[in-house]
Amino acid sequence: MLIPIITVDGPGGAGKGTICKRLAERLNWHLLDSGMLYRLLALSAMNHHVAVDNEAALKVMASALDIKFQSIAGQEGICAWLEGEDVTDAIRSEDVGMAASKIALQPAARSALLARQRAFAEAPGLVADGRDMGTVVFVEAPLKIYLTASVEERAKRRHKQLLDKGQSDTLPRLVEAIKARDDSDMNRAVAPLKPAPDALTIDSTLMSIDEVCQQILDEAAKRGIL
Ligand code: C5P
Repeated sequence: MLIPIITVDGPGGAGKGTICKRLAERLNWHLLDSGMLYRLLALSAMNHHVAVDNEAALKVMASALDIKFQSIAGQEGICAWLEGEDVTDAIRSEDVGMAASKIALQPAARSALLARQRAFAEAPGLVADGRDMGTVVFVEAPLKIYLTASVEERAKRRHKQLLDKGQSDTLPRLVEAIKARDDSDMNRAVAPLKPAPDALTIDSTLMSIDEVCQQILDEAAKRGIL
């Protein structure tokens, strides 16, 4: 049976996490947050003092990662455990994000995570959130979304997220961090962040979460996926 898949790719802070979780809940489909895999690998490398450019060690670590996910209704995002420890908050730090972005440059680490990502495609369907879901991991997906938003809007959203968690950072610093990560993700040699040729681009700068979800669901219905 062909598993229906909706891929949602785009830069950090465009709202992919929230949108994908909502979509998966609405459709009762599985959810893959592939960025979390890269973040978990990054945290594991930091914990075990493995350098972000040690490709051979990262490859071994990626294949053997001891991780667990759980999507808890009503809670933003997915909870994650690494080697038995709840690391849901730890993997969201800017440091881990930057390290994940550097690890994501290594072809060996990327390919070691491929099978793990594809294993999420199970009935009744999958919503896959990432940078290369439509271009590399699930090229056959019948609906591919490229979700974007202006850098300033993404920085504002991140700022609010941090404040909600009792953490803070200045807006100009967040803008710089987002630009640096975009630059690394969009200009890398392997699986650079870009829309798949057959992707539908949605700019969420002036849209609500509900509006984005509705547009994606309408498109899925129009294509006969639901
Ligand atoms: O989406 P998130 O910010 O959690 O992803 C962290 C980093 O992991 C990204 O900056 C990107 O470099 C990398 N990543 C990737 N491919 C994916 C998902 C994430 O390269 N499919």
